[in-house]
Amino acid sequence: MLKNVTDSIIYVGASDNSLDLFEGQYPIPNGMAYNSYVVVDEKIAVMDAVDEVVIDEWLNNVCEALNGKKPDYLVVNHVEPDHSAGIKSFLEKFPETQVVVNAQIARMLPQFGVVVAEGKQVVVKEGDTLSLGSHEFSFIMAPMVHWPEVMMEYEKKEKVLFAADAFGKFGAFDVDEDWACEARRYYFNICGKFGVQVGALLNKAAALDIEIICPLHGPILSENLDYYINLYKTWSSYDVESEGVMIAFASMHGNTKKAAELLCDELKAAGCPKVVLTDLARDMMSEAIEDAFRYGKLIIASPTYETELMPVVSMFLHDLWHKGYQKRKVGFIQNGTWAPMSGKYMKAAFDELKDITFCDTMVTIKSTLSEENKEEIKKLAKEIME
Ligand code: FEO
Repeated sequence: MLKNVTDSIIYVGASDNSLDLFEGQYPIPNGMAYNSYVVVDEKIAVMDAVDEVVIDEWLNNVCEALNGKKPDYLVVNHVEPDHSAGIKSFLEKFPETQVVVNAQIARMLPQFGVVVAEGKQVVVKEGDTLSLGSHEFSFIMAPMVHWPEVMMEYEKKEKVLFAADAFGKFGAFDVDEDWACEARRYYFNICGKFGVQVGALLNKAAALDIEIICPLHGPILSENLDYYINLYKTWSSYDVESEGVMIAFASMHGNTKKAAELLCDELKAAGCPKVVLTDLARDMMSEAIEDAFRYGKLIIASPTYETELMPVVSMFLHDLWHKGYQKRKVGFIQNGTWAPMSGKYMKAAFDELKDITFCDTMVTIKSTLSEENKEEIKKLAKEIME
């Protein structure tokens, strides 16, 4: 599919609607877009390649956009295979193209089987420029957004930021769905660990007059850019985006679930603006991670399983730790028939995390909810909302 971003910038990307898991782990029920752009001027640049599965469609799109001309440059911003897989086929078709990279990209490309011919590589660094005629790219290094080699370009004539993975989302290019929902799930699962580096990029971007953001996934952003940039500021600084409580639970025989549901009812009755109830064994883990970072308050409920935690609870807690969960209030409900231990392990998972406040009440269920437990859950609801 071709789409004019401006008179000189043409979208030539392609979407995959058959893949089940992006990066082998994140469900993509609405497909995935692999974006690429052709910038036409006295010289012509192709901005990034695509994933293996859409190479043929992409090359057809590129040829259509080139309209019989030859590309002068292929700009490679990110070496992860969802963008670099198409480079080899591209260079076989257009062997005269100069490949624009930074030093780290140059080192990584051969690891993915891409060998650029002698004299065909242009190595750039922060602040370098490349002129196509009336269009000029300034190169911006963006390490860890989302790999260490990532770079971006600002094109000053049309005020376009070619943003690599930043501002991307899950979903095919033309899918009609809320941007923030799938962009947030994408951000926290893929870039969430790198908030400091994303913040550094946003600081660089603040000095630029940007009218269009061309990411490598998801739609081109050209209206109300403050909305997207402000969400990225919130996400990268780990600030709370929405008021509300997330209850994340696992339950072996339904009793811990009953406690989580009772807490949910108590919170709603107390006027909590939003309560999200997530079954960690059944709901999408990447959605659970997204919600944990979206809301400011979190209650985790877990049975004791072989003297520790339900494995899905461990996985959830490990992901929170790994992605630098912080600045949140947290409470726990533990369950156990003879030696309830899950609370101890849940709390310990937050030991190394910054700015975590705990509820004083830890609800301890012995198999099934007691009348005393019901009162404790009321108390926990009150505490988490304070
Ligand atoms: Fe879209 Fe980090 O690759």
